[in-house]
Amino acid sequence: MTAAPHPAEVLFTREQIRRRVAQLGRRISTDYAGREPVLITVLKGGVFFLADLARAISVPVMLDFMAISSYGPAVAGGEVRITKDLDESIVGRDVLVVEDVIDTGLTLGYIAHSLESRRPASLKICILFDRPRRRLLDLPVDYVGFELPDRFVVGYGLDWHGRYRNLPHVAALVPDPVLSAGDQG
Ligand code: PRP
Repeated sequence: MTAAPHPAEVLFTREQIRRRVAQLGRRISTDYAGREPVLITVLKGGVFFLADLARAISVPVMLDFMAISSYGPAVAGGEVRITKDLDESIVGRDVLVVEDVIDTGLTLGYIAHSLESRRPASLKICILFDRPRRRLLDLPVDYVGFELPDRFVVGYGLDWHGRYRNLPHVAALVPDPVLSAGDQG
């Protein structure tokens, strides 16, 4: 009998993540000096990164959240639906989208398009984990933490069927489930 996939191989330790998030926080604080950006994440995976990044930023920030329907249909060119929208208007605000992982880019492409249409003063994207080789949509990303290998990883917000988000580190699942578009996050 084959063992169920479990997080067996640590790729990024808690300390590596802490240091990188601190660096990103310092860069963002410099870039947004004198401003008060709105940090927006898409539930659920991004909340861990958002919580740590917000505390690593020294300028005042506001937080807001969105949720979208399963993005499986988007891969097939289907419709994506916002199931929870922002609480506040972002007209004239400096918006920084904070996400745990970018893979195909379809989720962020949809989110960025929706946010752009609301006339923010600026819109930037900050990603902790990037898998550039799996990109289907070319999207400018302003801040990137780490590059991920083509493996199914969990922890620090990333899940496998809802599990392992709360691991403080990021680990690869062994055996590696097939990483298909729409699977990771
Ligand atoms: C993850 C992640 C992004 C998306 C990135 O979310 O938080 O939103 O996948 O993938 P893409 O670049 O291929 O579109 P997921 O759908 O797994 O939901 P979750 O945040 O609730 O885990």
